Amino acid sequence: MADRPVVVVARPVPAAGLDLLRERFEVRIGLDEVGGAAAIVADPTVPVGPELLDAAGPSLKVVANFAVGYDNVDLDACRERGVLVTNTPDVLTNATAELAVTLMLAAARRLGEAERIVRRGAWSGWAPEQLLGRELAGATVGIVGLGRIGSRVAALLRGFGCRVIHASRSGGDLPLADLVAESDFVTLHAPLSDQTRHLVNADLLARFKPGSILVNTARGGLVDTRALVTALREGPLAAAGLDVYESEPQVPPELVELENVVLAPHIGSATRTARDGMARLAAENVVAILEGGQSLTPVG
Ligand code: DGY
Repeated sequence: MADRPVVVVARPVPAAGLDLLRERFEVRIGLDEVGGAAAIVADPTVPVGPELLDAAGPSLKVVANFAVGYDNVDLDACRERGVLVTNTPDVLTNATAELAVTLMLAAARRLGEAERIVRRGAWSGWAPEQLLGRELAGATVGIVGLGRIGSRVAALLRGFGCRVIHASRSGGDLPLADLVAESDFVTLHAPLSDQTRHLVNADLLARFKPGSILVNTARGGLVDTRALVTALREGPLAAAGLDVYESEPQVPPELVELENVVLAPHIGSATRTARDGMARLAAENVVAILEGGQSLTPVG
């Protein structure tokens, strides 16, 4: 059908969303033929700025980001062109929070290091002082950004017997510099913006509690990687658990070489449940907007 609105999906999303779009629209996969699109389904790897928006042209009504974060989208450029932007909150909250806790445990129990020992055949048997780590129970965990995901992390950690404190834009329990000085674990759940880029820099890292652990499942740009590497080599950090990086998919070799870092490839929302939910919600936003309704989860 030639006159169905065109929806360009940057990279194939799960069928839960794709099927919904295909029932109603002409769906094109990939950004090669973006001209004339009424909607673009983007994701964190797709920079949405003037170039892409102008390539789509005046037919474009909505950019549905297949992610809760939307730092890849130039909101001003969209606003200037009358293009609505949506994201996919809630459906990935639990998956991302569980990964944050996973990374806390993995970094605290030195799981990456331990697995590498087994895999290279270097394990010589149980030993009383081998690979001693630390426990979450009784630890103070500082949550930076108490939005949906930060709040879910807090709820999960209460089950581990942690003391949870938080700092956020709107205040929190205590200022960020005091939070990091008191916390055995610090976990980041803030969006990336001009205000939060390199929030964790050399100055802040110097104030972290000696022997503490940093976890980042939010955005790599929140942390100054060079300063992080220094803090992991020379202290005060004992370890880190990272799912996100400043220039993905590049992971700095200095990080890869460190034994005390657990590295994951941006898999916070990578569960069947979350990704299906994200696909469905992104598609429902497109349907709502192209069929004249209100977007379900607008941003900007
Ligand atoms: C997000 O949603 O922002 C994640 O980074 C990808 O799921």
